[in-house]
Amino acid sequence: MAHKISLTRYLVEQQRSDGSIPSQLRLLLEVVARACKSISQAVNKGALGGVLGSAESENVQGEVQKKLDIIANEVLIEANEWGGHLAAMASEEMDSIHLVPNRYPQGEYMLLFDPLDGSSNIDVNVSIGTIFSVLKKPENGHGQGVQESDFLQAGSKQVAAGYCIYGPQTTLVLTVGNGVAMFTLDREQGSFILTQENIQIPADTKEFAINMSNQRHWDAPVTRYIDECLAGKEGPRGKDFNMRWIASMVADVHRILMRGGIFLYPWDKREPEKAGKLRLMYEANPMSWIVEQAGGAATNGRQRILDLAPTKLHERVAVVLGSKNEVERVTGYHTTL
Ligand code: AHG
Ligand code: MN
Ligand code: MN
Repeated sequence: MAHKISLTRYLVEQQRSDGSIPSQLRLLLEVVARACKSISQAVNKGALGGVLGSAESENVQGEVQKKLDIIANEVLIEANEWGGHLAAMASEEMDSIHLVPNRYPQGEYMLLFDPLDGSSNIDVNVSIGTIFSVLKKPENGHGQGVQESDFLQAGSKQVAAGYCIYGPQTTLVLTVGNGVAMFTLDREQGSFILTQENIQIPADTKEFAINMSNQRHWDAPVTRYIDECLAGKEGPRGKDFNMRWIASMVADVHRILMRGGIFLYPWDKREPEKAGKLRLMYEANPMSWIVEQAGGAATNGRQRILDLAPTKLHERVAVVLGSKNEVERVTGYHTTL
C-alpha cells in the first residue's frame, strides 16, 4: 500500500465520492470506532485490569452478565450519547431503549449493538467482539421522542453495520452499503488503518460452523445438510468438509469473510418456542448485511434475514449465513423437506 488510509480518511473519501455517508453518520461511525478502541484496551488488559469474570446480574434474556458485557455497554453509551448524531440506542444488555438525554443535542440516527459478543470466550482468552447496526430515526407521526417501535425496522433499512473483533489483531469491519471494508487497529498510532477493501466471500466452501453438541435437537433439514457434509468424498457432496466453531459469532463470521464457509445457528428443540438463539437486531441483521455486501447470503432457513419484519426489540432468529451456494442449499432443504 502506497500510503496508509485511516478510517477517518476512508469515510471522508467515501462521502466525497458518492455521498453515501452524510456527515452525521460519518461522525457516528468514528465515535463507534473510538469506543471499540477503548473496549479493545480493556479486553487486552484482562486480569490486570480486573475486567474478567461474572458480574452479579442478569440481562433481559436471562443470561448472566460478564463484567466486560457491562463495561463494553457503558463505553458505547458514554461515547455516543453526547455527540449530537444519535436519537437513541438499543443494546442486547439493556431491557429497553436508551434515549439521548435532553441536555445533549439530538441526531437523526439510532444505534443498536451487541456490546460484547462471545461472552463465554472472555475468560479463556479467545476472540470476542462488538457488533453494531445503524438505523435512521423514522419520521414518526406519534409526535413524541423515539419509541421502541421506531427500532422495529427490517434489516434492509440499515444505513451502516459493522463489527470489531478483539483477537490477535483488533479489526473493524464495516459496510455502508457499497461493499465491505476492513481496518486494522494500529496501536502505536491509535487509529484504524484500511487493510482490505471490497471483501468477497467465495460462493462455494468446504467448511461449516455449527455447535454439534445440539445435533440431537435439530430439525430434519439441518440434520440432512450436516450429515451430507460429514459423509465427505463418499457422500452426495463428493468432497470432504472441515468444521470450525469458535462460539463467538464475530470470530466465526470474520473467518467466513476471510476464506468462505457457512455458519448455522438453527432453531432447535431445546426451547422450541424460541426462533433461535441469536438476536435479530443486534447480531443477525448487521452480520447478514455485511455478508450480503461481501457476495454471500443470509437466511433464517426459509427467508432472507434482511426482509424479516421485527416484532420486538430482543427478538431471536435462526441464522444460516456465509457462502452463497451453501446457504441456498440449506434454505432449499427447508422449503422442500
Ligand atoms: P453473546 O456472547 O453476545 O451472548 O453471543 C454469543 C452467541 C454467538 O456469539 C455465538 O455464535 C453463540 O452465542 C454461541 O452459542 P453456543 O455457546 O450455544 O455455541
Ligand atoms: Mn452476541
Ligand atoms: Mn453479547
